[in-house]
Amino acid sequence: MKTAIVTGVSGQDGSYLAEHLIQRGYFVVGVDRRRVSDPRSPARPTLNGLKKCQALKIVDGDITDPVFMTRLIADYTPEKFFNLAAMSHVGQSFKQPVATFNIDAVAVVNQLEAIRRFSPETHYYQASTSELFGGLTCPPEGYNEESPLHPRSPYGVAKLAAYWSVRNFREAYGLFATNGILFNHESARRGSDFVTRKITLGCAAIAAGKQDKIPLGNIDAYRDWGFAGDYVVAMDAMLDHSEPDDFVVATGVAITVRDFLIKALNAAGLDGGKWEDYVEFDPRFMRPSEVPWLKGDPTKIKEVLGWSSTVDVDGLTKMMVDNDLEILG
Ligand code: GDD
Repeated sequence: MKTAIVTGVSGQDGSYLAEHLIQRGYFVVGVDRRRVSDPRSPARPTLNGLKKCQALKIVDGDITDPVFMTRLIADYTPEKFFNLAAMSHVGQSFKQPVATFNIDAVAVVNQLEAIRRFSPETHYYQASTSELFGGLTCPPEGYNEESPLHPRSPYGVAKLAAYWSVRNFREAYGLFATNGILFNHESARRGSDFVTRKITLGCAAIAAGKQDKIPLGNIDAYRDWGFAGDYVVAMDAMLDHSEPDDFVVATGVAITVRDFLIKALNAAGLDGGKWEDYVEFDPRFMRPSEVPWLKGDPTKIKEVLGWSSTVDVDGLTKMMVDNDLEILG
């Protein structure tokens, strides 16, 4: 049985990826930070579908601990290693820039070095991001793998350092190390502090009479939103490719946060045309420097790996709103 290590296994992407890999016959070693378990809420709800699954082993550990990570890699010498654990909230990264750098950049160098020394045949995936581009001068056809990089947050800066570290280990030591430059990807498993889920939960709560308004920051930002379940398939395909390379993963369509809100209101049976009645501006959700326009150009991954996204933003919005209407009754 082939082995894959997945850090951040209980997150949105980690849980979809674990399911995908197990379906493909892998033994998955999922890394997760230990948390206090609350009997009223299961510790890792995203992994409920894999309860008692023999092909998944959860290891408690912190990716910023190089001793932990080196031992794990040396013990398992996995076929694949997916680094999905991160401080992934862009807004929060302004408040914790050093912690963000340690988690999102330094830990990546530690992983690459441990792989170089103890498991050089491992195929390595780094969760890179469209935040590298910065969104100030988005080309009409979208950003691609050759576009200039200009991160606009501590998160983006740390991810940029990780991105170049992956390329450097590839060029210097010949590691099979890849960057998946993923644009925003969402689902019913998305955390409620990201804007799509905050909106779909808010619309469902308004429809259920439990909330009046959704507090939001900048609703003029454009994002290219795809379905996370599709994007984990792209990650895995990158590691099955004949050579290590970097790929943009996106739908190729971008809309504003406001347009997403209108779609979500309509999907919840409310009147999207009256969106202003359902929103209040809250400056706490503004960022010191914003990324205004992110659209990806997925031409390369379509042509080289035959991957394309299967859920458009309308389907995605409906999927998330339906889920939240069910949760909130
Ligand atoms: N989170 C949040 N909360 N964002 C808001 C809000 C709010 O109340 N109001 C407006 N926004 C705007 C943000 O300013 C941003 O322009 C946009 O909504 C999307 O914010 P997020 O959903 O937090 O995602 P993100 O684009 O900053 O980052 C996500 O996507 C990246 C890939 O492009 C994260 O998943 C990153 O980890 C990922 O790398």
